[in-house]
Amino acid sequence: MAIFEATAEAVARAAAMICDGHLVGMPTETVYGLAADATNGRAVAAIYAAKGRPRFNPLIVHVASLEDAERLIVLPPQARLLAQAFWPGPLTLVGRARQGNRIAGLVTAGLDTVAVRVPGHAVAHALITACGRPLAAPSANKSGRISPTTAAHVAADFGDTLAMILDGGMARHGLESTIVDATCQDAARNQLILLRPGAVSSAAIEVAAGVPLNRRPSDPTRPSAPGQLESHYAPRAHVRLNALSVEPGEALLAFGRNVPLSETVSVNLSYDGDLVEAAQILFAALRWLDAHGVAQIAVMPVPSHGLGEAINDRLARAAAPRK
Ligand code: TXA
Ligand code: MG
Repeated sequence: MAIFEATAEAVARAAAMICDGHLVGMPTETVYGLAADATNGRAVAAIYAAKGRPRFNPLIVHVASLEDAERLIVLPPQARLLAQAFWPGPLTLVGRARQGNRIAGLVTAGLDTVAVRVPGHAVAHALITACGRPLAAPSANKSGRISPTTAAHVAADFGDTLAMILDGGMARHGLESTIVDATCQDAARNQLILLRPGAVSSAAIEVAAGVPLNRRPSDPTRPSAPGQLESHYAPRAHVRLNALSVEPGEALLAFGRNVPLSETVSVNLSYDGDLVEAAQILFAALRWLDAHGVAQIAVMPVPSHGLGEAINDRLARAAAPRK
């Protein structure tokens, strides 16, 4: 088993492996990432291969500070406000790439923009700093499957194919970062576009930026709209949304206290109806129910305010028709 407690020594060893072009499972405050040297094209290619990820779907680059981010991308004024408000933390900003930033072309799938974030997990920060270079890291799951919130989840998807998995505990947020496109900001247009709802709520972003977020209608058939692949976060079991009762052969993913009576295997995302708590355990709960080999998971309605927007986004993709 390649899981190592994230001691200073283990982080130093992981950094050396990354500099040698290997992949490392990295804890972050959102979900675990599959990290590689973002300036090494071969290492980045290995990420796509390990995940089975389509090459048109670009990766997020992780850096240690706002200054390091600004070496890679141009941050217009409102985007800088967001960076100051939420970094280090679960926000990803997409900006125009700066010339000569040394990021491998495969990271951005040939786009002239880069998605960048400064993670808020001490181990991720230590690893980036020890490597001394930006790290490309998608969520450490096989493409289209459920994101990992523990080191054991990473090991379950990748087994011994990874050089190392650093164990930094259970991911604090349990949902991926919120992605905001800041490339439509100039003197004439001043837009921030929400590409993926996530661990920072849209309302918090609008308060910090002082402008409304725009939402681009997603078009799952257009690969040039990255991150908009419809089926994603999918357990093996089928997923039935807005369930008010449980049918034979179903497991139950409950929310709140009005749980329908049933004999089935079930998990409650939050008995108290707390969306922060629900976000934290959502992926682990889906994995756990899936492990029971049920044919279908019935999911009770989850309100859509605050973190509920991101939770419902993940649930909708988990329920989307599979190829
Ligand atoms: O919380 C997170 O963001 C986690 C942790 C590991 O940092 N990472 C993560 O990565 O969720 P991934 O690969 O699962 O999702 C990255 C998303 C994809 O939807 C991708 O399309 C989008 O970021 N993305 C990356 N570069 C982009 C770009 N230049 N323009 C638009 N979207 C981009
Ligand atoms: Mg992912």
